Amino acid sequence: MLILNKAAGVFSKPSRREIFEFLRSFNFRPGNVFLHKLVLGIETSCDDTAAAVVDETGNVLGEAIHSQTEVHLKTGGIVPPVAQQLHRENIQRIVQEALSISKVSPSELSAIATTVKPGLALSLGVGLSFSLQLVDQLKKPFIPIHHMEAHALTIRLLNKVEFPFLVLLISGGHCLLALVRGVSDFLLLGKSLDIAPGDMLDKVARRLSLIKHPECSTMSGGKAIEHLAKQGNKLHFDFKPPMQRAKNCDFSFTGLQHVIDKIITQKEKEEGIQKGQILSSAAHIAAAVQHTTACHIAKRTHRAILFCKQRDLLSQSNAVLVVSGGVASNLYIRKALEIVTNATQCTLLCPPPKLCTDNGIMIA
Ligand code: KG4
Ligand code: ZN
Repeated sequence: MLILNKAAGVFSKPSRREIFEFLRSFNFRPGNVFLHKLVLGIETSCDDTAAAVVDETGNVLGEAIHSQTEVHLKTGGIVPPVAQQLHRENIQRIVQEALSISKVSPSELSAIATTVKPGLALSLGVGLSFSLQLVDQLKKPFIPIHHMEAHALTIRLLNKVEFPFLVLLISGGHCLLALVRGVSDFLLLGKSLDIAPGDMLDKVARRLSLIKHPECSTMSGGKAIEHLAKQGNKLHFDFKPPMQRAKNCDFSFTGLQHVIDKIITQKEKEEGIQKGQILSSAAHIAAAVQHTTACHIAKRTHRAILFCKQRDLLSQSNAVLVVSGGVASNLYIRKALEIVTNATQCTLLCPPPKLCTDNGIMIA
């Protein structure tokens, strides 16, 4: 078994207790192993190498994740060959770790599920070739997973959400609104016509050089904007929400990004500072961009809810809106969505932040 043999080299000078624990974890345990179907999920579509083992009742037996955020923060964005190399360096260890924590041996698995699309081709390739090698060696079934479907369905691990429900996925790479009618039955209602909101927030944070801000240096762009926005006045700048007249549920963030870019250049001139230094008005800009983003996302979502209700695609009294993705961890944006769901008698559900971002559990 490729994983176990190679991973054996990872444990340097193990103690007798560690060896015992390791061997015990792979022993046959009557009454446990054959009661459950166990799926190993592998995720490498972007910048997280993640794996998890989940049983068919949704119990998470173990998981492991390696985030590349710190490396990509330094290069000012994800460089695909760098992401690919980091996935290659970590996938073996992460899968081994998820199996060890789960106390499940590869032979006990019922299937291997892996993200096959959408995502960065170079990153996806690492997870896919690793999984196919494993599938071949272990003679297990392979389950190809659509990354967005996995994000949309994760909530069902925690809440008893009946189909159909509405899902809003907002992250660095995704922006879509869809009606989930079944496990593989999605009706796309709207998507970003250009970049995703997380990507826009990351670009604004980079333009504001927030990585040099003592309170924000280790945060993702979106998180840094949320943090700084608390110290700013959202009305200091008047950015208009995009696509106000568009009679659909699509999104757009590039225009807003360019407007903010211009304002930052103008403020740099006024304050007599160089590009790369932090503006005194950075917190006001953060507050205004967060507010405009929240308004845009809330307005498009409101349209989608009304559209679905008018056409009886969603229950009139029991409709559910699920919001996921890295940007869904933003409390200001959640509050704006709460206003929309309260006004339309919908229930708003968000997975905990750990399950909002990319992970192996959602794939398994
Ligand atoms: O889901 P995710 O981990 O990865 C994908 O993009 O698929 O989302 C990461 C994105 C980044 O763009 C990051 O800036 C944004 O989510 N993000 C946030 C917050 N935390 C992470 N955006 C707004 N507010 C936050 N608190
Ligand atoms: Zn994702």
